[in-house]
Amino acid sequence: MSEATNIHPIFNSLLSREKKEGQLKQNGVVLWMTGLSGSGKSTLAKALEFALHDLGYFTMLLDGDNLRTGVNSNLGFSEEDRMENIRRSAEVSKLFASAGIITICSLISPTEEIRAVAKEIIGEEDFKQVHIDCPFEVCAERDVKGLYKKALAGEIKNFTGLDSPFDIPKNPFVSIPTHKQSLEDSLKQLIEAVVPIIKLD
Ligand code: PPS
Repeated sequence: MSEATNIHPIFNSLLSREKKEGQLKQNGVVLWMTGLSGSGKSTLAKALEFALHDLGYFTMLLDGDNLRTGVNSNLGFSEEDRMENIRRSAEVSKLFASAGIITICSLISPTEEIRAVAKEIIGEEDFKQVHIDCPFEVCAERDVKGLYKKALAGEIKNFTGLDSPFDIPKNPFVSIPTHKQSLEDSLKQLIEAVVPIIKLD
């Protein structure tokens, strides 16, 4: 909700999205990766960005940890802060997509409610939810950042999947079971799902 009054956003005479997409020869979209910490979001997001670049697409990668060092640096992991984190990240993603850019977002975005807000901001047409599917036990076993060990020892509060909820996405655009297949196969599955929607006919 805007706090400011007397603002007059420009809508007319903006260089159109279609023109930008035409120049880039692609359809802008937001690939919204959701999943537990350690499920493989960032790894797959990075691999996808490189693969799409090699195929000639213009991309932007927005990662939760990175956004939290800048635009979201004043936010923590309470329910309220996560909601604000997602709201801002979705607004930023929307701007990139509106410039025709393939925007890859990698944020836990733990609840149906939070993801619904992202979808509402970005718009149903552009919001493609990618579930990076990996059970809590497997993520805890991987524990790449050592966060699960700390959380299970009570050193991190509000840890997703432990004392903070994670809702399994109901109708994702695609679901990638990273505990059942190699990174190579996950990437292939993702590219096969994504290329048809970003390719400009
Ligand atoms: S959220 O829920 O969407 O607002 O989270 P996000 O912005 O994606 O940030 C997740 C990264 O923050 C680190 N971290 C935590 N994750 C979950 N719960 C708690 N309490 C927490 N504290 C720090 C962690 O590195 C997450 O990164 P990923 O890539 O998911 O492992």
